[in-house]
Amino acid sequence: MLKVAVIPGDGIGEEVIAEGLKVLRVMEENDSLKLDTVEMEMGANRYLRSGDLLTDEDVALLTEQNAIYFGAIGDPRVAPGILERGILLAMRARFDQFVNHRPVKSWHPFTPLRSEREFYIDFLRENTEDVYMGAGGTFSASDPSSSVHIERGMYTLDLELNAFMDKDNDFAFEIGLLSRNGVERFAEYVMEFAKKRGESKVTVVDKANVCKQLYGLWREVFSQKGEEHGLDLDFMFVDAMAMALVRRPWDYGVVATPNMFGDILTDLGAEVQGGIGLAASGNITPFGVSMFEPVHGSAPDIAGQGKANPFGAFLAAKMMLDQFGHPDLGKRLQDAIGLCISNGTLTPDMGGTSTTSQVGDAVAELIFK
Ligand code: NAD
Ligand code: IPM
Ligand code: MN
Repeated sequence: MLKVAVIPGDGIGEEVIAEGLKVLRVMEENDSLKLDTVEMEMGANRYLRSGDLLTDEDVALLTEQNAIYFGAIGDPRVAPGILERGILLAMRARFDQFVNHRPVKSWHPFTPLRSEREFYIDFLRENTEDVYMGAGGTFSASDPSSSVHIERGMYTLDLELNAFMDKDNDFAFEIGLLSRNGVERFAEYVMEFAKKRGESKVTVVDKANVCKQLYGLWREVFSQKGEEHGLDLDFMFVDAMAMALVRRPWDYGVVATPNMFGDILTDLGAEVQGGIGLAASGNITPFGVSMFEPVHGSAPDIAGQGKANPFGAFLAAKMMLDQFGHPDLGKRLQDAIGLCISNGTLTPDMGGTSTTSQVGDAVAELIFK
């Protein structure tokens, strides 16, 4: 029995998760899979009604689950950052889901690349630290009493910036923070993952040529771990990685990234593979509740119109099934998507005319064909 909290969230999150559940139910009927699901309302509507984001009761219920199946959050009625930080990032942090696994697989002919070469990259994104920690603040140069605080103690700014000479200026900052333990456990996971995948090399992304402190620590820890595990490391600056991802994605296998660069590179990867609607992710923790979700957001521009591509949500369900000992079912699901694509049952983003639920019906029918 797999206990799963289902959080559809906002916008197209609701539409794609409804189809994901439809498909999971079909698998339950036809196989040994047993799901014990509990649906939870989180997102804009609840927030606007009650002010609740991630409550203690939510956390208590989520803690009892094996996994979370999540749609997306975000709503134009709510200022940016409130739902994202208060719900999604709060869950990633609360459950210590320190790895965000985002596969990028070529789905020809939907990739915009001219080449038909196959590629399969496993992006592993550090998921709890970096600029995502919320260590920041604002201060005013003209007001000597507006000191800069971060959570533990005072932060003294001593920067060689002309802007700071200007006494009539306000500032905002948000710092990237990495901990040695945090990078170590992440790098350890990356090395084990790469060995399981049969790789001799890992690509490690950063911007150590600018953020010397932050990614200095990152490189130091990765170098140590690479040596311990006998794996070659290819350090790449994030700008060069963005270029390489478009130019020659087949050269990459396992790519480890810091949190924010990983966010950006995996949207690029999503498009390179064939579209954001196909991209899936797992927020993984080895010692608690992991969370599986499509990479895309709530897409307010198409919400409520039946246009959302549910494949990313299906592939997130596949990652959940793989993780919980049903790789056979995960493969069936991925194969059914392949068949659905060959049949041309596609949402508009992939050039089709089918609705979200028609694609869901098609995949549900194809799974045990
Ligand atoms: P988005 O991913 O929601 O949409 C970007 C573009 O891709 C839009 O044009 C959208 O229509 C299209 N798109 C996305 N998913 C699609 C799908 N399944 N099928 C077809 N087209 C799809 O990104 P955004 O517009 O930058 O963000 C909208 C909201 O979602 C914001 O509030 C943002 O913070 C939030 N967001 C949430 C998550 C999450 O919950 N994991 C992820 C990203 C963004
Ligand atoms: C993602 C999203 C989130 C992120 C936002 C909504 C907090 O963009 O899952 O890719 O930046 O991680
Ligand atoms: Mn993102």
